[in-house]
Amino acid sequence: MKINIAITGASGSIYALKLLNFLLNIDYKINLIISDNGYKVLEHECKGFKINHKNLQIHDNKNLCADIASGSNKIKAMIIIPCSMGSLARIANGISNDLISRSADICLKEKYQLIICPRETPFNTIHLRNMLSLSQDGAVILPCMPAFYHLPKSLDDISDFLCGKVLDILNIKHELFKAWKEPSL
Ligand SMILES: Cc1cc2nc3c(=O)[nH]c(=O)nc-3n(C[C@H](O)[C@H](O)[C@H](O)COP(=O)(O)O)c2cc1C
Repeated sequence: MKINIAITGASGSIYALKLLNFLLNIDYKINLIISDNGYKVLEHECKGFKINHKNLQIHDNKNLCADIASGSNKIKAMIIIPCSMGSLARIANGISNDLISRSADICLKEKYQLIICPRETPFNTIHLRNMLSLSQDGAVILPCMPAFYHLPKSLDDISDFLCGKVLDILNIKHELFKAWKEPSL
């Protein structure tokens, strides 16, 4: 089954590229949607990025006639990574005026797995309320919030950890980080 990945205009596009590469390399078919600001941040943070693969279908975020805008096309899951506060607000309030928010809306109504990876700091009360409301509606809120207990040495290590967390929720095996074990002191 296909997986939808959306990249919005929050910082952290590297997480999305990592996740895309991982899933494409293990033969998942991916629908990719990038918001206008998602493209701008991606170009800024990941200069020279290339996204091209036989299993990758890129959709225009303005195209509300795309097959993934309808609940009759089943998918395994949708991941919004990174998710801006703007997209978060649209999804939490059912404002389905672009393909990203419409496909997320479909996931909520059809009970497909929806993983939202918000990125902002600090959060205001509106952000927190929107996250609470989406969590209550069944979405998984998986913040772009790296950990340091696996002693990362590079940006790769940091982004691998977050992708691994997403893959854990999707129940997809990976070795992007090792599970925590009590250290022998
Ligand atoms: C370089 C850059 C970094 C940004 N980082 C964030 C961020 O981390 N979180 C956020 O909510 N918005 C961030 N923004 C603002 C969003 O891109 C903006 O609110 C946009 O309207 C979101 O729309 P979208 O969800 O359709 O991509 C950033 C903008 C720029 C130009």
